[in-house]
Amino acid sequence: MSATPSYSYEELQRRRTRQASVLLTPDIYDWYEQMMASHDLYYDETRASWLLFRYEDVMRVLQDTRTFSSQRTTNPDGSVDPIASGGILGMDPPRHRQLRSLISMAFTPRAIAQLEPRIRAIVNDLLDHVGDEDGMDAINDLAFPLPIIVIAELLGVPASDREQFRQWSSDFVGTDYALRLATSKKIAAYFQALVEQRRRQPGEDLVSELIRAEIDGERLPAPDILGTCLLLLIAGHETTTGLIGNAIVCLDEHAEAKQELLAHPELLPSAIEEVLRYRAVVHTIPRIVAVDTMLCGQEIKAGNLLLPLFAAANLDSRQFPDPGTFDIRRDPNRHLGFGYGIHFCLGAPLARLETRIALSALLERFPNFHRRHAGQLELRPSSFIYGLKQLPIVFESVS
Ligand code: HEM
Repeated sequence: MSATPSYSYEELQRRRTRQASVLLTPDIYDWYEQMMASHDLYYDETRASWLLFRYEDVMRVLQDTRTFSSQRTTNPDGSVDPIASGGILGMDPPRHRQLRSLISMAFTPRAIAQLEPRIRAIVNDLLDHVGDEDGMDAINDLAFPLPIIVIAELLGVPASDREQFRQWSSDFVGTDYALRLATSKKIAAYFQALVEQRRRQPGEDLVSELIRAEIDGERLPAPDILGTCLLLLIAGHETTTGLIGNAIVCLDEHAEAKQELLAHPELLPSAIEEVLRYRAVVHTIPRIVAVDTMLCGQEIKAGNLLLPLFAAANLDSRQFPDPGTFDIRRDPNRHLGFGYGIHFCLGAPLARLETRIALSALLERFPNFHRRHAGQLELRPSSFIYGLKQLPIVFESVS
């Protein structure tokens, strides 16, 4: 196959839009398996992108940030728009390093561990509203509201505005690129007002901390504060919803694993890591090839889009023995569910904590949960998040 040319800014935007219009489907895992049998790298016309499948190759891309840039959204003049670029997720060093070190102060494992009692209270409250007889929709009654409440509280968003956030968050991760842009503007305007309010009246929340934060003696520019708020809201919500939902499905589909977990609740953290490997929520985050390069014996031109497939790499048998087996005791388990390298998920400790508390409460209160309908699962429409739209479960035992 001949290498594709590099693209102008406009062409890149057009291709990104095209890429975002391709949905993840429930049979995507069968497709990965088929593709991986014959390809390491594949040019996908529909997505107008190179797809990369193997663990080792994906790791190489994630570590070589000079060749494979995360800075995919630049203005036509070459400057970076911190809001459209998705905050640090869409930045390269050295700017990425500076900003990340500031935000990570709020996300230390210690700071996150302090949230445990509050998260437990939110989960209990959500489960208190579930009727024993009717069962529940594990997505809409638990997995969806939990992370939005937590992130809204972290950011200091008033409870009365949370409904609005739910809608924005859904609109943003969908596949309608125009809606996504329009929504990001609405969220930016919302945070703009919140930032101004916190400037006048600082609190203990993350927005106030970002306002106080300094890089090399200088205050953070307003667009960076907004970009960070938007990123935390989006990165922290639907992803965690997806993980909780995928975990429930994995346990439902693997009855022996669920029994083992009920007998040994201490295996829960390791079970969650296995869900992140076996049914990754974030399947890929694009990179832009910054300089002409060779990858898997193929020349790729600067400007091309590359999708390192975390979800496929997690099934690479060269890295994971029996990759198709859901093994809650898998060790080692160096999955790429949270990415790798300088962009490794900043919210991983929070996502793990929320998921652990939600699952342990569910298993404790309703150990006999089962999916209400066997068969095809319905995914939320998204091109990069693999999570369910709904997940009705019932609690009676099935004999
Ligand atoms: C980055 C996945 C939850 C904040 C990432 C990346 C992945 C990921 C794969 C790497 C992206 C890349 O390499 O380009 C997930 C999953 C989650 C989750 C699967 C839930 C199960 C969260 C939460 C937060 C968060 C709860 C915060 C509230 C971030 C941020 C980055 C990031 C700020 C960008 C880090 C950087 O660019 O340096 N996440 N995430 N994530 N995540 Fe998460």
